[in-house]
Amino acid sequence: MAAMSGLTVEIADKTFPASDGAPERALYRDFRLEVADRSFVALLGPSGLGKTTLLNIVAGVDKDFRGKVAFTSEKPRIGYAFQSPRLLPWRTVLDNVLLALPKGREHVERARAVLGEMGLGDAERVFPERLSLGMQRRVALARAFALEPDLLLMDEPFVSLDEQTAEKLRDLLADLIQRRPTTVLFVTHDSREAVRLADRVVVLAGPPVRIERDVRVELTPEKRREAGDVERVRDHVVRVAG
Ligand SMILES: Nc1ncnc2c1ncn2[C@@H]1O[C@H](COP(=O)(O)OP(=O)(O)OP(=O)(O)O)[C@@H](O)[C@H]1O
Ligand SMILES: [Mg+2]
Repeated sequence: MAAMSGLTVEIADKTFPASDGAPERALYRDFRLEVADRSFVALLGPSGLGKTTLLNIVAGVDKDFRGKVAFTSEKPRIGYAFQSPRLLPWRTVLDNVLLALPKGREHVERARAVLGEMGLGDAERVFPERLSLGMQRRVALARAFALEPDLLLMDEPFVSLDEQTAEKLRDLLADLIQRRPTTVLFVTHDSREAVRLADRVVVLAGPPVRIERDVRVELTPEKRREAGDVERVRDHVVRVAG
């Protein structure tokens, strides 16, 4: 049985101090977001609002805030596909994926399998500087997936990919989640992508950040492939957000 992996994040205050002439930025004040176990929550909101900051807080990368993050399981495994791929240039593609995993043969096999699913089977031994940005993104995704996380944080994972590749990876993500239920917190600027993938779309506004709209997406996997159905829900998300 997979671990429970819902979470509640409460941010009483998150402020970046003034520096280099830039003024202080109060991003969060009395903010609260609950993410149910095994739900897929998409976060939409304007650039510079604080979405990446929120994922960093949930991931424990940013501890400089007042508030708390509580998980429903004791030590959830967290996979984080960062907004920029962050690969180690002196390690091969395969080694970059293995970094996230415990040592052992079965993990090497798993890393290879995930790279294969990402269409990177031939690039295992290549160093990141030889890859296009889209390929680097896929390596970063493979690294997050291979961990088989309880909680998957994804920060605009499908930007800078051509639409065909992006669509293939959306299918792959949906498929992986169906096979192995995972809680997902997914940042995107693409409301269509949000409706296509998520079962809840949270529209953020601010500053300070507040939840402007919380839309449930109750579409079957088949209906998510129908432009008309996706568009109907999307109208609801966008109308209010705009
Ligand atoms: N380390 C930092 N020091 C100071 N300010 C920061 C730091 N990191 C982010 N900020 C500021 O905080 C705000 C929110 O940044 P964040 O990256 O969370 O936004 P975002 O919603 O993810 O934007 P985008 O959609 O463009 O990725 C921005 O104004 C940014 O300039
Ligand atoms: Mg961001």
